[in-house]
Amino acid sequence: MAKRNTSYTCQNCGTSYGKWAGQCDSCGEWNTIIEEKGVEAVPKGLGKGKGNAIEFVGLQGASEEAPRLVSTVKEFDRVCGGGLVPGSAILVGGDPGIGKSTLLLQVVGMLSAKNSCIYVSGEESVDQIRMRARRLGLEEKDVSLAAATSVRDLITTLEKSSKVGVVVIDSIQTMFIDSLDSAPGTVAQVRTSAQELIRIAKRRGFSLLIVGHVTKEGTIAGPRVLEHMVDTVLYFEGDRGHQFRILRAIKNRFGPTDEIGVFEMTETGLMEVENPSALFLAQRRGDISGATVFAGIEGSRPVLVEIQALVAPSSLGTPRRAVVGWDTGRLSMVLAVLEARCGISFAGKDVYLNVAGGLRVSEPAADLAVAAALISALNDEPLPSDSVVFGEVGLSGEVRPVGQADLRLKEAQKLGFSRCYTPGQEGKKKQQIDIGFQSNAIEHLRGLIDLLSDNTDQSSKRLGAV
Ligand code: TYD
Ligand code: MG
Repeated sequence: MAKRNTSYTCQNCGTSYGKWAGQCDSCGEWNTIIEEKGVEAVPKGLGKGKGNAIEFVGLQGASEEAPRLVSTVKEFDRVCGGGLVPGSAILVGGDPGIGKSTLLLQVVGMLSAKNSCIYVSGEESVDQIRMRARRLGLEEKDVSLAAATSVRDLITTLEKSSKVGVVVIDSIQTMFIDSLDSAPGTVAQVRTSAQELIRIAKRRGFSLLIVGHVTKEGTIAGPRVLEHMVDTVLYFEGDRGHQFRILRAIKNRFGPTDEIGVFEMTETGLMEVENPSALFLAQRRGDISGATVFAGIEGSRPVLVEIQALVAPSSLGTPRRAVVGWDTGRLSMVLAVLEARCGISFAGKDVYLNVAGGLRVSEPAADLAVAAALISALNDEPLPSDSVVFGEVGLSGEVRPVGQADLRLKEAQKLGFSRCYTPGQEGKKKQQIDIGFQSNAIEHLRGLIDLLSDNTDQSSKRLGAV
């Protein structure tokens, strides 16, 4: 059989195919499969030749943990699990223009006080990076800059330099290896470049930070093809319309995942946000129908966010269900439970749901807050402005307890909230412990609806009295 050394690779997820297809079976993206020469679709087997025997060791041994490199950018260090581990590779993914280069320049700027740092950019010229450094107030820092794209040159240089602490590669899609036929940015180039750089990072013991652009076009490989190769995967996300940026750990061999770091993009770079709840709630106006405050947990930290719902008459045959910052499927479920179990109908109405501030909430614990926002929007009756809500909703309408209720309530109390709507059991427990909190234990969504209408009755009574 003729030897085939052409493969068709999805530039989004890296899956290889023997022939071209319009859609990738593995990740479902369209037009991301391109032809790559010089890459075998089916890798060669072992062939002849014997390997060496491997010696096994026990779990216990004298492997010392090297001290972490701490950048003092606390939000970054925490997401990494307490600083950079020497010899590890970290991928920082994100949309173009979200602030990856800015973040990493700030991080190496701070790290350079104690470590020798190298910043290699294939996207910007040295002048541009210097200009950015001036803008960030980092021009005095001792960072070695280079505008380069050849991995071969880089490896040679790194091999020679002594005591390198941190290397930033901005971005992996601009790096190339001359021995490969394909263009920079293709899966083959991105993978091989990363492999070589990770290998030298492990051997020489420096921390490698790789920038990877998330791309929608199929011609440039996305960071997903690298996720399994690196030790840590961080995604830098945010809405370009908002100034908040969130650094999220997706995978971390040396620390927790689900941890987030919150930053604010300002004229002079990224500022750390130590109390995200205060920031997310800063724009809040109490006493508005359809708005609730959800006491969530992001990683190890409680984060309070406002959930806003709008229910409006629809002129469409199929009413709209639009969601920003939450899961569409989850909204459909909460709507279905409200309709089927509580007899509240959203038929013929458009429903919009928004997590204010640009945060993406993925916890099921937000169900109850969403349900409360929807009910409040439908009835056009605000919730008491000093209340927080959390709890998971089951398909029969039951409200289930969620983890770390204490932490959520403590944060809420710190921010001046004094009323909570929580799952049944949690609420009861809290009532005993915390007298400062007026807690409403909710076992079923119907209970929430009753409570909310009670509030309305009371407030209208009060209004009537005045
Ligand atoms: P950048 O770090 O270049 O994004 P990426 O490397 O992810 O492509 O960030 C670019 C954006 O950040 C750009 O729109 C300008 C903005 N920015 C600020 O608002 N303030 C600043 O101090 C800097 C350096 C950039
Ligand atoms: Mg950049």
